[in-house]
Amino acid sequence: MIFDTHAHFDDDAFDEDRDDLLSGMRDAGVEYIVNVGASMASSERSIKLAEKYQFVYAAVGVHPDEVGELDEGKLNQLREWSKSPKVKAIGEIGLDYYWDKEKHDLQKHWFLRQMELAHEMQLPMIVHSREAAKDTLDMVTAAKPLGLSGIIHCYSYSVEQAREYLNMGYYLGIGGVLTFKNAKKLKEVAEYAPLSQIVLETDCPYLAPVPFRGKRNDSSKIAYVAEALAAIKQVPSEEVIRITNENGRKLYNI
Ligand code: NI
Repeated sequence: MIFDTHAHFDDDAFDEDRDDLLSGMRDAGVEYIVNVGASMASSERSIKLAEKYQFVYAAVGVHPDEVGELDEGKLNQLREWSKSPKVKAIGEIGLDYYWDKEKHDLQKHWFLRQMELAHEMQLPMIVHSREAAKDTLDMVTAAKPLGLSGIIHCYSYSVEQAREYLNMGYYLGIGGVLTFKNAKKLKEVAEYAPLSQIVLETDCPYLAPVPFRGKRNDSSKIAYVAEALAAIKQVPSEEVIRITNENGRKLYNI
């Protein structure tokens, strides 16, 4: 069954039918979901969802666009939250030079502090990186002594960069973008990366796969991503779903 390793079901886009949708996930072939925080508020909402649904787990962390809200007190709150048995990762954390909402130095400071938190709590991290390929790789490489594990979420960089992350033991998070016509680079990465280091994700409500592109995404639509990956790997899509599920459980310790 499907493991959606990165979802945002706390988003407003699900306010109308969140409970109906989540209650139907099992029947739609979804076994596990990790709901990922992007701010203090959404981290807290992620834990609440995980407490309500047995098959939902949470990640807590502050996205690079939101690090302006962080201070050491808030970091301590993340630490307290991460002690919950339903919290399985620190994230999403990283660098975003596309939206460029916060100064790069500030983004780097809190990325490092949250990587250190992941190390301290012995949790994997979920890395968000957009238009920040070099700095992200430099920071993750420099953090090697921390012995971190994790996912490079919504992987969007080159095969050369992928090689570096894979060699350090990271997983690549692949979602709806793989089904887009213009996703040539990601298809090359998907061909290159071993299935044992790929996890599937929605980033829902965003990034719905074809034929739902532009519409609201949800975990059941990962089946379309699995099909696209299966075609690239030339294996049955059931095998893609099974192996990526195992990868997710191994990484998140579920
Ligand atoms: Ni996300």
